[in-house]
Amino acid sequence: MKRVVFGVAAIAAVSAFAMLDDDAALNAAREVLAKMTLEEKTQMLAGSGTMTLPAVPRVGINSEWTMSDNSSTVRPSLDRWNWSYPEPKTENTKLPSLSALAQTWDVAWARRHGEVLGAECRDRGVDQLLGPGVNIMRTPLCGRNWEYLGEDPALAAKMCVSMIKGVQSYDVAATVKHFCLNDQEMCRGTVDTHADDRTLNEIYLPAFRAAVKDAGVLCVMSSYNRIDGIWASENKYTQSGILRDRWGYKGLLVTDWGGQHTTEFAVMNGGGIEMHRGDRIQYLCQPSSNRFPLAEAVLRGDVPAATVDNMALHTLYVMAKTGFLTGAPRRTGARNTPEHQRVARDEGAESIVLMKNGKGVLPLDANAIGKVLVIGSGADLKQCHKGCSGEGNVPYEVTLYAALTNRLKEAEVKLMPFCAKLEHAATDTSNATEAGGHVELKDADKWCTEAELKAAAEAADVVIVFTGTELGYQENMESEGRDRVEFDLPAPLQKAMHTILDWKLPRVVVVSRSGSPVGYTWTDKADTLVQTSYLGMEEGNSIVDVLLGDVNPSGKLAQTWPKTYSDTAVAQCGTYNKTNVVYNERFYVGYRWHDKKAIAPLFPFGHGLSYTTFEYGAAELCDDGLSVKIAVKNTGRVAGKEVVQLYAAYPGTKVERCVKELKAFSKVALKPGETKVVELRITPRDLAYWDEFNHRFRTDAGEYELLVGASSADIRASTRAVLAKTEFFAD
Ligand code: BGC
Repeated sequence: MKRVVFGVAAIAAVSAFAMLDDDAALNAAREVLAKMTLEEKTQMLAGSGTMTLPAVPRVGINSEWTMSDNSSTVRPSLDRWNWSYPEPKTENTKLPSLSALAQTWDVAWARRHGEVLGAECRDRGVDQLLGPGVNIMRTPLCGRNWEYLGEDPALAAKMCVSMIKGVQSYDVAATVKHFCLNDQEMCRGTVDTHADDRTLNEIYLPAFRAAVKDAGVLCVMSSYNRIDGIWASENKYTQSGILRDRWGYKGLLVTDWGGQHTTEFAVMNGGGIEMHRGDRIQYLCQPSSNRFPLAEAVLRGDVPAATVDNMALHTLYVMAKTGFLTGAPRRTGARNTPEHQRVARDEGAESIVLMKNGKGVLPLDANAIGKVLVIGSGADLKQCHKGCSGEGNVPYEVTLYAALTNRLKEAEVKLMPFCAKLEHAATDTSNATEAGGHVELKDADKWCTEAELKAAAEAADVVIVFTGTELGYQENMESEGRDRVEFDLPAPLQKAMHTILDWKLPRVVVVSRSGSPVGYTWTDKADTLVQTSYLGMEEGNSIVDVLLGDVNPSGKLAQTWPKTYSDTAVAQCGTYNKTNVVYNERFYVGYRWHDKKAIAPLFPFGHGLSYTTFEYGAAELCDDGLSVKIAVKNTGRVAGKEVVQLYAAYPGTKVERCVKELKAFSKVALKPGETKVVELRITPRDLAYWDEFNHRFRTDAGEYELLVGASSADIRASTRAVLAKTEFFAD
């Protein structure tokens, strides 16, 4: 039920928890704005501390508006003036990263993910969550891929819409970030990016657009980079032109921290609330300093008063929507509940991708295992406190090793490191690490010889090899502020993998964790390969649930897994550098690139196996003549879930188009032998391309091929639709 309100006073009396409708929120915001002085309005447009906007008690804003990162937890509360955490550090549930959420291909999980974060924000008194991040995985090297939703704009758009609705259902404002073209961390604060309009609109904007138009996101964060020479935070074309004018965005725009360079210029170009870091916070934002540089600019006549009014109105509008401004009852939250921890575990399990299961080693039979050897100390390394603005602080964290030990109580579960010491020692012992800069060695006693490792492996019923990347700052780790320097896993680790797999033991399960595709050289030797992203506090339990078959894997890759870095678009086009990045590969990102160039990936976008098998029937058009329905049957012996994917191809196109593009997907649960008809709904707008001459999306009349598959490379059925007329769309 929507609340109907005529004034601030009336709002508090209404008890329903639906957010105020837009008009009522605007009216409430206008009432408060009318009472504010110029100084107070400008004060609202800059952070009053690391994560706050100021209170203005004179007009009834009695407390500060509080923000917090991130997309998978509510980051611990920060010091008022800097990035340190006052003790005791606040604790919150840590859910899987967004790269994992994307691998669920399930909007219901995105909704739950958002609801948990919304509830935990409310319990902490956080009004604005700084997530989700929806930048596109353009290069596997980007240090923040794990904070984003994969390589495909349609997948990212659908998942972020659902997540945002979940967050905002708790009267907390979500923030979609980083707007835009912030698709690498290397030199993110200086790099100049250039994408042609078609590429921008078809690949890099759809998730932002969906957040604004379909989810009603209340906040947008601009990015650090430049776009066509102009800082994203000061860029009129993207901020005023696209976000406000084209999409009709009414919410709050906030800069990334320290990402604004010239206040006045930014304000004149659609810029947002200026968030600072370091000394600038104290210098500019401390109300007691009595500095109001923006007000001074208005008084000088350099900035129109109406521009400041408008910006303050956006902020007050968001405050009104959430109930913060009006004192309306807000939904209460909770944190660290068993329910939230269960979401972490189940969402994690749902995101895991079974890449290979050649000899049917998985699922393991818990009752038949006497001895398990886990190789790789990363399997017992806690992760949740890592990741810069993506980090968390959890009441507990279950590693894979701990989960195995808990679960297989009767079995002997042993953990040994990779024996890379000897290889590494030859080059550099001063910085000895387990696998060449991969995992920091914590305990020198953990070294073993290769013979010792082999003997332990041979004595075990099952060997679980845990490999992949880590969150952190070192080379080959994934982190904010820097990209990985190499696509491949470190050479000593690759070598260790070959060594272990060459032993040809009967039951070896490789579990690889990363937020991005990484280079493997040994996959043809591995019968069984499980890919996981960073799964948060319940990571170990989620993985064990899948390994033991309590959960039948149903995750699918949200990214193409190239064989080598040199196969990727940015490598072949030479479009990845530190200074001036021209997106010359255009819209050929991920599978679009591999399709165009006929380069077989190691694992395709959308790939993921199950412990059961699915049979697809014939694809048929629905009554609207465009959507597709298809019967899918579980032909195996256990229940499972399949992600049915709909791609469009353009046989009769007169303009350049991709070989195929994802348009819809649906995850269906099937009991053994069960068949369900899955409907994949699309509209003509879904088939549109950006018409550079008319500056609009356009769908041409003609024939479209609709491909239904289990991955982008495993198309099981197809049908054709004909559109009678060409249509243009406003955006
Ligand atoms: C990151 C943002 C984050 C902000 C506040 C920046 O460095 O890029 O994603 O929300 O810090 O912590």
